[in-house]
Amino acid sequence: MPLPYHERTHHCGELRAGDVGKTVLLSGWVYNYRDHGGMVFIDLRDRGGLTQLRFNPETDPKAHEIARSFRSEFVIAVRGEVVSRGDMANPNLPTGEIEIAAHEVDLLSKSETPPFPIEDDIDTNEDLRLSHRVLDIRRTPVKNALMLRHRITKTIRDYFDRHGFADIETPILNKSTPEGARDYLVPSRLHHGHFYALPQSPQIFKQLLMIAGMDRYMQIARCFRDEDLRADRQPEFTQVDIEMAFVQPENVMQHVESCLAEVAKIAIGIDVPLPLPRISYADAMKTYGKDAPDMRYEMTIKDVSEMAKKTDFKVFREPLDTGGVVRCIVVPNGAEMTRKETDGLAEEVKGIGAGGLPLVKVAEEGGKIVLQTGIAKFLSTDEIVHDLVEATGAKPGDLVMFAADSEDNVCKYLGWLRETVAERRGLIPENEWKFCWVVDFPLFGYDDETKAVFPMHHPFTSPKDEDLDHMKLDTDDVPPTKDLLKIRAKAYDVVLNGIELGGGSIRIHRHDVQSKIFRLLGISAEEAKLRFSFLLDALKYGAPPHGGIALGLDRIVMLMGRFPSIRDVIAFPKNAKAICPLSEAPGPVDDAQLKELGLNVVKSD
Ligand code: AMO
Repeated sequence: MPLPYHERTHHCGELRAGDVGKTVLLSGWVYNYRDHGGMVFIDLRDRGGLTQLRFNPETDPKAHEIARSFRSEFVIAVRGEVVSRGDMANPNLPTGEIEIAAHEVDLLSKSETPPFPIEDDIDTNEDLRLSHRVLDIRRTPVKNALMLRHRITKTIRDYFDRHGFADIETPILNKSTPEGARDYLVPSRLHHGHFYALPQSPQIFKQLLMIAGMDRYMQIARCFRDEDLRADRQPEFTQVDIEMAFVQPENVMQHVESCLAEVAKIAIGIDVPLPLPRISYADAMKTYGKDAPDMRYEMTIKDVSEMAKKTDFKVFREPLDTGGVVRCIVVPNGAEMTRKETDGLAEEVKGIGAGGLPLVKVAEEGGKIVLQTGIAKFLSTDEIVHDLVEATGAKPGDLVMFAADSEDNVCKYLGWLRETVAERRGLIPENEWKFCWVVDFPLFGYDDETKAVFPMHHPFTSPKDEDLDHMKLDTDDVPPTKDLLKIRAKAYDVVLNGIELGGGSIRIHRHDVQSKIFRLLGISAEEAKLRFSFLLDALKYGAPPHGGIALGLDRIVMLMGRFPSIRDVIAFPKNAKAICPLSEAPGPVDDAQLKELGLNVVKSD
């Protein structure tokens, strides 16, 4: 009689000393196999963990004989008695106090030798792991990542359910949504030449749900964006998507931070102090050089334009004379950095557009602070040294790195340097979790190439009431760009350790404001009608003030699980070339399918 594997009594991580004496039935995969002078030991693995099995040739010759044919990753079922391991207990294993004296065993399925070991620490390259993701997921770190994701998702769902949010699904086959990335398009068989766009987010539909009176909405929504991939970006990813009616930013922010605090508690075991700190976009850029500041360490950006005005140094003077700024960061004990390190940084910062990397070392000579190397000769007077020390708090042994350019560029260079130097010099504390809100974003950004403004968030974001005047709502005029760039938005991003977890805003619920925004963005009335008529129409029929946010679920799990990439927390991710190494998607389709869809493929070389 084969063993009734469906009557499994425990999973492999469950048995403890208190279970000694029980007869149990386990099943799973052979993790490893050891033959100790006749006695065979097998670690059996399933999703729950590992249990040691012991096959004794004296007492259970048949089971022992079968077990001798087992190899790694064979699938087996076993029945036996839980016995104590006594002095041989393994303190590193939750089930380490016991083992199973196996009496009966069945082979359920054989396995070929896996292409890489199914172990925690392996150095197999990621593409090979992803192309055998089935085996990879059997490894504890990957399995744990998926289980963490499950627990986080459940915590989030429970939170919003408790607070009256309804989970409503929105369409996947859509018209284009305005999140600014490229769309993934799906050709229509019934309407040749017409395409659905996969949603970049459920943005418009969740707004429609508010206008429809559904008030609190949430969805764990799959989104699709055809954009360049990075460690924290995938072409398909998951948002925790929220929308509420009759709210101001505070209401949305309060729910999001309470929910994130619950998630942090179950995922990392920490108590996040609430409310989360808030910083304006302008201050974040000025102090950290980016709109997702990493507040785990200092090395903040200091403005030294006043000091720089006192020098003849051309690299400082020229940007200052054309409306630019001179700012710096102070690297603690950075004077010990080698020439090779700083030259390397200079090359890299040039790679993102900087002219170079002016720097000085701070030292002490005869009780007096002096500057050395780099551009020290341009900063030689006592007054300049004094001003620099006063503005930055630099101490002997520190290294000061400068950037002189337009304000935007200086933020970009110093923001990059701050993060890169902190990372390379090990200045980022391991166990710090710094959440913050970034608020008061500008409504528009300015694109130097197209010489036009673009929405910083998306075109449905509401301007702050006090900045509405800059829009000249009551006329058809388009105000000067400099005025438009002053308008702040009712938008907010939540950031953890320098990574944007989510972004949202209060939406425009007035038809006249929405139409004017489209006009300012250069979207004609016809184009707006073509793209967003269903939203514009709905706005005419009683739209409540509303707003919401979307959090990147993959990013939350990545950060809280301390994984380096969101690929680590997605069961079947795409690689950096947007290919699924397992299924090899995207793939070609046959001519008949193309014909049915009315498509011709232009072959590229
Ligand atoms: P936004 O475009 O800021 O806002 O996206 C919200 C959050 O989604 C995550 N995210 C991504 N995660 C992985 N891979 C990607 N390619 C990717 N793109 C975005 C980020 C980001 O913070 N509709 C608005 C939200 C709103 O206004 O309510 C939106 O989608 O964590």
